[in-house]
Amino acid sequence: MLTGRKIHLCVCGGIAAYKAVETVRLLQKAGAQVQVAMTANAQAFVGPMTFQALTHAPVLTRTLDPGEEMAIGHIAFAQSCDVLLFAPCTANMLGKIAHGLGDDVVSTIALAAPVGRTPVLIAPAMNTAMWENPATQANLALVSARGYRVLLPDAGALACGAVGPGRLPEPEALVAAVMEALAPRPLTGRRVLITAGPTREPIDPARFLSNASTGKAGFAIAAAAVRAGAAVTLVHGPVTVPVPPGVEAVAVTTAREMHREVMARWAVADAIVMSAAVADYRPAEVFDHKVKKLDGPMTLTLVRNPDILAEVGAARTGAHPVLVGFAAETGHPVEYARDKLVRKRCDLIVANDVSAPGAGFGTDTNLVYLVTAEGAEPLPLQSKEAIGQRIVDFLAVRLADGR
Ligand code: PMT
Repeated sequence: MLTGRKIHLCVCGGIAAYKAVETVRLLQKAGAQVQVAMTANAQAFVGPMTFQALTHAPVLTRTLDPGEEMAIGHIAFAQSCDVLLFAPCTANMLGKIAHGLGDDVVSTIALAAPVGRTPVLIAPAMNTAMWENPATQANLALVSARGYRVLLPDAGALACGAVGPGRLPEPEALVAAVMEALAPRPLTGRRVLITAGPTREPIDPARFLSNASTGKAGFAIAAAAVRAGAAVTLVHGPVTVPVPPGVEAVAVTTAREMHREVMARWAVADAIVMSAAVADYRPAEVFDHKVKKLDGPMTLTLVRNPDILAEVGAARTGAHPVLVGFAAETGHPVEYARDKLVRKRCDLIVANDVSAPGAGFGTDTNLVYLVTAEGAEPLPLQSKEAIGQRIVDFLAVRLADGR
């Protein structure tokens, strides 16, 4: 519930502005006091009178309103709420926020917002091509890095006829995001290091050894850890899934690169989750030219890669940092996970049978067991996001326990 909470909503000019009206109603239903500011373009889609009638409060439409109080209204608007929500936020407004421009009431509110003290949520909505434009993506990365929380748009049919990402999430989802922004954040002040995705072990300039990991599982854990308030570093192999907003990403290719980046960071982490599918072996020799095919069979000699999880497990003192590993198996996942838990000195092994339907590499869901010294808890088939949240809940409990 949002009883007594002040939510200030900035509406920009896009067809999705109509959803802002329902968002106000739902926020109020949850107990919030809502005030609205609008750009000039937003007023072409929805009249300020609609919001004024709903909120029983003046709607901020200009930076320089007559009267001393209203002339600084945008500052008070930005600084006197529990959550500041920009929905819909156009590509233009995102660019202004990213680059610190303040040439209208909404962009000046963004400039005056105490990001870091007050949650500032940005819900972009725009045409798919505009969303995918590298300039928009660069602006998103900038605002995320500065602590604004971006609510990614939904994909689907857009008003302009395009189909793809760019739809403003439904009002219910916006209200849920506001509630979540105000929920206790158990990993505030904690540093979480996560590995994700595959590694690639080169054979020659054209070929490599790898596996089918997409990074979905690890990226979902990273997103959940950010939501819980942690400072998250994600060391990941070659993947195409987008880096969750607010995450520091370190891209690597080989197991040895992943090893180097993790070993440089693990000691300052409060918790580490290793979900990457790291190649256990690499070719002994990497050819500097494309290897020509032979008439007969070809032999490739492989040598062991460092076991990053085992090395961190051996190096940590006591239970610091909290250490979580994964186990990808094709049968008897709990049995093997118990062995890894002890051998790699982990607090938790997330075991998945990657041959089970809906589980493992590339799927949106996973079927896992949470294996600790206390026992093995089977989880039902569920999204990798939900499993990421369970892992983060585990970290929060262990860190609070100080075990
Ligand atoms: O990325 P997705 O497409 O979403 O797929 C998710 C997943 C199937 C990759 C994930 O759920 C998973 O199971 N990850 C671990 C895969 C794996 O390599 O398991 P393993 O049993 O070989 O390794 C055990 C643990 O040691 C893992 O935490 C692994 O990150 C770590 N390890 C392994 C080898 C190595 N050289 N260094 C390591 O740190």
